[in-house]
Amino acid sequence: MTTAAGDRDRGTRAAVIAGIGGYVPGEAIPNTAFEHRLDTSDEWIRQRTGIGFRHFVSAGTATSDLAVAASRRALASAGEHAVDMVILATTTPDHPCPATAPSVASRLGLGPVPAFDVAAVCSGFLYALMLAESTIRSGGAERVLVVGADSFSTILDPGDRNTAVIFGDGAGAMVLRAGNRDEDGAVLATHLGSDGGQADLIMVPGGGSRERTSESASTGWNRYFTMQGKRVFEAAVAAMSESAASVMGRVGWTPAAVDRLVAHQANLRILRSVSYRLGLPAERALVHLDRVGNTSAASIPLALADAAQRIGAGERMILTAFGGGTTWGAAAVTWPHLVSSHSHTGAQDDSLVS
Ligand code: UT7
Repeated sequence: MTTAAGDRDRGTRAAVIAGIGGYVPGEAIPNTAFEHRLDTSDEWIRQRTGIGFRHFVSAGTATSDLAVAASRRALASAGEHAVDMVILATTTPDHPCPATAPSVASRLGLGPVPAFDVAAVCSGFLYALMLAESTIRSGGAERVLVVGADSFSTILDPGDRNTAVIFGDGAGAMVLRAGNRDEDGAVLATHLGSDGGQADLIMVPGGGSRERTSESASTGWNRYFTMQGKRVFEAAVAAMSESAASVMGRVGWTPAAVDRLVAHQANLRILRSVSYRLGLPAERALVHLDRVGNTSAASIPLALADAAQRIGAGERMILTAFGGGTTWGAAAVTWPHLVSSHSHTGAQDDSLVS
């Protein structure tokens, strides 16, 4: 699915980025922390993934806590607290039912606004962004809070070296407001896709209606996240490259016109491969995974929050992600003038989690 507008739409209503914020919990956990209990090494993890550190929630902290903390920073960055809608992308909601977004909206004091979750795993933020963008563009809302938040450590099998060392917990949030296509910060085009035939590549088999909770409880293992890493790697490179190329084509950006590639932070080799396929120099790809690992739905807004003070207003960016489902997507945006930019990198301000 592609949504985009051409020259005829210049000057027309668009969703514009108004604020950004990120949050990661606790202390940075180095790769060496896994060496005593898994057959792995700092060297393997760095060479094969580019990851050096990640953050995990402690017992008692849930995904909504991370989402609230990141959202407070995004709302402060936007300089205005009110929004008309909250969309939260997550694979690790506080509970299977109800959705986590209403709780986040309530704790933020946003009033009785519509609030709902989106489930598209690592592509979730781009799915949520597209929903927010099209709602604003059609006049259905003036301001929308879009959050990507995940606590993957709560579904990882601690004995599975294929996944345990890759993921980290965190949240990123973005405020979108109604504005104009010509403004810095405008979302210019989006593209989404899925292939349910590849659902087995990334899955938590148990706990849903197919493998019921009671059966899962007796076996235990199938409540954990599973991933066929090598196949996901290949599918991710292909889908992100094609999706990104699609939105570049829709907005007429050549590789030389793209200032930044903000790809889902799954693996440094994936970032390099996607950059190469798009004809972009490797250094245009934003790299944040070295410090936080793969934070799933949080990955793109968290990377943006971290880099916000280094990105110049008007820079042209391609966002792209791939995740379970399988799902994928891309967006062409420009970077806004922000009232204030908040980088995050730690949990120093614990008051943010309440
Ligand atoms: O977020 C959604 C999207 N997710 C992704 O995009 C993840 C995509 N996949 C990947 O990033 C990579 O496939 C992994 C990082 C998961 C794995 O890297 P790889 O280079 O594809 O490794 P592999 O699965 O081909 O395994 C190579 C070897 C195997 O050993 P043998 O069979 O060659 O003896 C694995 O058992 O590396 C082994 N291995 C490990 N060794 C040390 C796998 N995980 C580890 C580990 N430490 N943690």
